[in-house]
Amino acid sequence: MLQKEMVEEKLTKVIYPGFTKSIVEFGFLKEITVRENLISILIDIPSAAEEIEKQLREEIATRLSFLGEYRIDLTVTKPKPPRETSSHGKNVLPNIQNFVMVSSGKGGVGKSTTTVNIAIALAQQGKRVGLLDADIYGPNIPRMMGIEGQQPVFLGKTIKPIISHGIKVMSIGSLVERGASLIWKGAMVTQAIEQMLEDIEWGSLDVLLFDMPPGTGDAQLALAQSLPVTSGVCVTTPQKVALDDTIRSMDMFTQLHIPIAGIVENMSGFICPETGKEYDIFGKGTTQPLADAYHTEILGEIPIEPAIREGGDSGLPITVLAPNCETSKRYQEIASKLWNTLQKVNEEGGVNNEAIQPTIF
Ligand SMILES: Nc1ncnc2c1ncn2[C@@H]1O[C@H](COP(=O)(O)OP(=O)(O)O)[C@@H](O)[C@H]1O
Ligand SMILES: [Mg+2]
Repeated sequence: MLQKEMVEEKLTKVIYPGFTKSIVEFGFLKEITVRENLISILIDIPSAAEEIEKQLREEIATRLSFLGEYRIDLTVTKPKPPRETSSHGKNVLPNIQNFVMVSSGKGGVGKSTTTVNIAIALAQQGKRVGLLDADIYGPNIPRMMGIEGQQPVFLGKTIKPIISHGIKVMSIGSLVERGASLIWKGAMVTQAIEQMLEDIEWGSLDVLLFDMPPGTGDAQLALAQSLPVTSGVCVTTPQKVALDDTIRSMDMFTQLHIPIAGIVENMSGFICPETGKEYDIFGKGTTQPLADAYHTEILGEIPIEPAIREGGDSGLPITVLAPNCETSKRYQEIASKLWNTLQKVNEEGGVNNEAIQPTIF
């Protein structure tokens, strides 16, 4: 009699397309049952792309072909395809399933750090991730991803993103002359964003994250008008004075009809590397009433931690360097919650932001 374990052992060799880990390591294999001469297998994958399912079906059939006399019934569950249109028009990048805008009311709160670590956490969960550094005024993503100074490859009119830590990365700032972006005016920002969206060869992605410039300006508007942004993440710090900026950010999402996934409270307490003791520096938990007012949640609280800053400076983010530490686990949780929101938005065809009565503070 054929054992379930034998089938599972074979499936541990099935590498998930585009990654180095197997479907079993990612936890995509949900169930195997063997009944008489029928093997039923259930796998749940994070990609709605047809070609991924096709490749997996072929690979699994090959791996199990030695079981000549058994019939194989493979069920593949996957996310619903995304919305095809935004309130502003059609998705010009139909091979990308989800678009996430990461915003903050002001600079220096850790928006880029958060975006990078969420992107890596998503990739570690088996999602095919792209990261666009749209912060033309302060493009930090290349350094944080360890690709500073590397030039992307141009193929005629199109540009190939650089792959780092399993993520396709492109930085608008790194494509323009150093310092030139400082004098960019609104219309130029809009044009750069629109052009960049058309010219970058992303291929097929489960999610594309945008690290936006701080504030609520032209770049955010250009993006929301060009693409059906699936969801927005707001990064803030717990000081009371940061609250006003955060409100502006949340109002912006509401006005642009972008469903809000939630708030990341960064620099929330300090964990002393020597003692592991936690200190409250900026005041923790101030963000919760804001999350409530906008019918959303705190996606996670990330402490001030030297390893986070070092990771940003060295190009080896904490989620890469220490994937099992407490802070990396928090980034994993943030990534999972964000992913759940994306699924919900795609299933429900958008979230009704109109119910929100913004700026009640
Ligand atoms: N939780 C944190 N702990 C320690 N340093 C952090 C943390 N978050 C961000 N930083 C550091 O603070 C600085 C500003 O962060 P950054 O992500 O560039 O902010 P923003 O993109 O909002 O301007 C960087 O040097 C970064 O490494
Ligand atoms: Mg930044």
